[in-house]
Amino acid sequence: MKIAPSLLSCDFSKMGEEIVRMDEAGADWMHLDVMDGHFVPNITFGAPVIKTVRKYTTRPFDVHLMISEPLKYIDDFAAAGADIITFHIECDSDIDETIDKIRSKGIKPGLVIKPNTPAWTVFPYLDKIDLVLIMTVEPGFGGQSFMADMLPKVKEIRRECARRKIEILIEADGGIGKDTIEQAADAGIDVCVAGTAVFKAPDAQKAISYLQNF
Ligand code: DX5
Ligand code: ZN
Repeated sequence: MKIAPSLLSCDFSKMGEEIVRMDEAGADWMHLDVMDGHFVPNITFGAPVIKTVRKYTTRPFDVHLMISEPLKYIDDFAAAGADIITFHIECDSDIDETIDKIRSKGIKPGLVIKPNTPAWTVFPYLDKIDLVLIMTVEPGFGGQSFMADMLPKVKEIRRECARRKIEILIEADGGIGKDTIEQAADAGIDVCVAGTAVFKAPDAQKAISYLQNF
């Protein structure tokens, strides 16, 4: 299992050092949660901050856009150094256009679905994207409880991909830690985002390797 620590749970006064800490602890990807206070009821950081901290690691930057109009900002996040950009299917931008724009920048595009959004909504885009991110909490805040009832979405997506011979990564985000990782792994998740569980752990390296072993 790949683990992507969510910087949302880091000490923002030293974001660069926190990235180095996660890099040295063995994180596979860095997960960066961008929130606009409109699509979700919280505001975090944008492309200028991501650009500033990009130099602290060579690990892939997995940028999760929780913003109403992602299409408007793809140029900025590309210039900031994103390797993967995921955006919500529930957003206001044109989905095909946004995927194409991300791809045109040489970045891997992914679609995110909120808990109330069914898995089949991503089916029309499966051949154009590299990953699907399944929210296992309502987006907006770290530290919430894992929604295990989201896991059947994995099988639905896998079944459709198998039928159409498409290979795709499936990522889960929210409430993942030592008590929930097994369920996520058993469901067939490839990449797990973990905020609280790694940043607040006494030993980040131990926490990450424990989760990676599933
Ligand atoms: C929630 C974010 C998540 C969140 C995960 O909107 O997308 O990435 O930070 O944090 P934990 O692991 O604490 O639930
Ligand atoms: Zn996220």
